[in-house]
Amino acid sequence: MDSHLGLFLLSVVLVFASGFSRNLPILSFEDGYSHLFGDGNLMVLKDGKSAHLTLDERTGSGFVSQDIYRHGFFSASIKLPADYTAGVVVAFYMSNGDMYEDNHDEIDFEFLGNIRGKNWRVQTNVYGNGSTSTGREERYGLWFDPSEDYHDYSILWTEKHIVFYVDDIPIREVKRNEEMGGDFPSKPMSLYATIWDGSSWATNGGKYKVNYKYAPFVARFSDFILHGCAVDPAEPSSSECDVSPYFVSLVNEEITPEQMEKMGSLRKKYLQYSYCYDRFRYKIPLPECEIVSQEADHLLRFDPVTFGGDHHRRGKRHRRSKGISAV
Ligand SMILES: *[C@@H]1O[C@H](CO)[C@@H](O)[C@H](O)[C@H]1NC(C)=O
Repeated sequence: MDSHLGLFLLSVVLVFASGFSRNLPILSFEDGYSHLFGDGNLMVLKDGKSAHLTLDERTGSGFVSQDIYRHGFFSASIKLPADYTAGVVVAFYMSNGDMYEDNHDEIDFEFLGNIRGKNWRVQTNVYGNGSTSTGREERYGLWFDPSEDYHDYSILWTEKHIVFYVDDIPIREVKRNEEMGGDFPSKPMSLYATIWDGSSWATNGGKYKVNYKYAPFVARFSDFILHGCAVDPAEPSSSECDVSPYFVSLVNEEITPEQMEKMGSLRKKYLQYSYCYDRFRYKIPLPECEIVSQEADHLLRFDPVTFGGDHHRRGKRHRRSKGISAV
């Protein structure tokens, strides 16, 4: 193939892969976020559009959105630390845990570091109204090395569903279901990004601890999109909020058949854990679960102990897949 044509095609693919197709405004750090913890380990770059979160022996670090939102589209482009990252957790998530101690909501992207030669894994999770004893975790491998380049990780949250995207490709949809009741997040939340030492559980249930010989661990964030219904924190239950015309179309957004197909083919290849298929944890799948036979077959091959359905034998083993909230 003509190399110019090749380059041209490559750049077309890159533009579509980078989430620009939504055409949403990208905020500077100062416009959307504030410092949360970690002093100098949170560094805003000179251009104001990127921030670095560092974990070293002293502390992790994090930032939080200035506003709280009910529903919307929230995204960041993230480049994860490279090399040996066992025990390191990078999280990009929504929560209202500081406002509702006993019945908080949460929507999580959690990146779990790994030993050298093994890739990062991504975990997603959802809690509603304090449903912390009901884990809804899924874990995935990625089809790229997330420490090599920036990739977009996005959360769409509406009244009808929650969709997790990687580079604008949906990897998980949680459809609201009557039976879920309050387990579907409903109260306004802040956006958070953090890096921290998850030695006690992050990599193979805590088998591999953070090794500070490889510190500092730096997670890079940019392309901040906070496009939601910003609610007055003094009246979090009020339905009034600032929205753009685009927000209205977001709220009604459905996953297109093309995206559905992409999601299906990624999931049957990269899914590593899903609570929907873990009969040891949930004898009957939770009400929002839609069982896909190809995913079940794939998980059985990937992890026959967890997904083999041989509960008697597995019962004697350590319950390594038990849900743990990372945040
Ligand atoms: C949420 O939790 C609160 C406090 O526990 C409870 O009063 C309320 O009924 C719950 N809401 C839903 C929708 O389950």
